[in-house]
Amino acid sequence: MVQTFDGQAVLGGSAWTIGTDVDHHLFRQLRVHADAVLYGAGTLRTDDVVVTTLPALQQRRIQRGQPPNPTAIVVTATCRFSEQVFAKKFFHRTDFGRVIITTPRAMPSDVARVQAAGVRVHVLAAGGDGEVSLEAVLHHLADTGARRVLCEGGPTVTTALARAELLDELFVTVSTRLGGDPASPRVITGPVTDRPLEPISEYHYRTEHGVREVYFRFRYPKERGDLRSTPAGQT
Ligand SMILES: NC(=O)c1ccc[n+]([C@@H]2O[C@H](COP(=O)([O-])OP(=O)(O)OC[C@H]3O[C@@H](n4cnc5c(N)ncnc54)[C@H](OP(=O)(O)O)[C@@H]3O)[C@@H](O)[C@H]2O)c1
Repeated sequence: MVQTFDGQAVLGGSAWTIGTDVDHHLFRQLRVHADAVLYGAGTLRTDDVVVTTLPALQQRRIQRGQPPNPTAIVVTATCRFSEQVFAKKFFHRTDFGRVIITTPRAMPSDVARVQAAGVRVHVLAAGGDGEVSLEAVLHHLADTGARRVLCEGGPTVTTALARAELLDELFVTVSTRLGGDPASPRVITGPVTDRPLEPISEYHYRTEHGVREVYFRFRYPKERGDLRSTPAGQT
């Protein structure tokens, strides 16, 4: 996740505008380690979902028996998308796997429309709140062979993962841009644990003018403990 210096997770209607090219490079690099990259439908509706890794590192994935790019997973309880969303790259690119996970709440005609666009659809039982159960999503992905799942947002899904204690680590880029919009969503949009994040690493991107961006990597603190997270330093 990326945020402005004053905490906005969206700037000018998008998240792409917040980070520098170095940040964009780094998150493509993070994807190299992922089997699947998870998004909320809000990010697909507002931005787009294109999951490509760095060409120079794709060979590493191929040697490990993985496809060059991870699979993009979009969760939506409704599976309802406008014509404008169907025009986005997610529905047209074929260089990464594309899956939509939805609930029985979705209308069969909406599911059929997504399938007709060439995107696989899985229907999983909804959680108690009627949304996609993120725990069920992770079990489903594990059953299909995924070992590392990266979530790239948006804030609603990141917060839902945090509240369900399904986050192992949190990567946050803090840019030196200012947003000034108190109504803009933050990386975390609702109450979560009050335990401090546990630092793993912190890097500064500096130019001759000084610091431009800071990249934090944290272990996400869990009330119930965690049996699945990877040791610090291992990616
Ligand atoms: N700063 C960053 O790093 C970053 C990263 C990504 C995106 N963004 C920005 O964030 C904005 C979109 O974020 P958002 O928070 O509005 O949307 P989001 O988190 O991308 O998606 C939320 C939507 O996901 C669906 N959903 C299905 N199951 C869910 C569950 N268990 N929990 C939560 N949502 C579930 C719901 O859509 P249905 O109604 O279809 O079920 C829900 O409205 C965009 O402006 C984008 O630019 C920022």
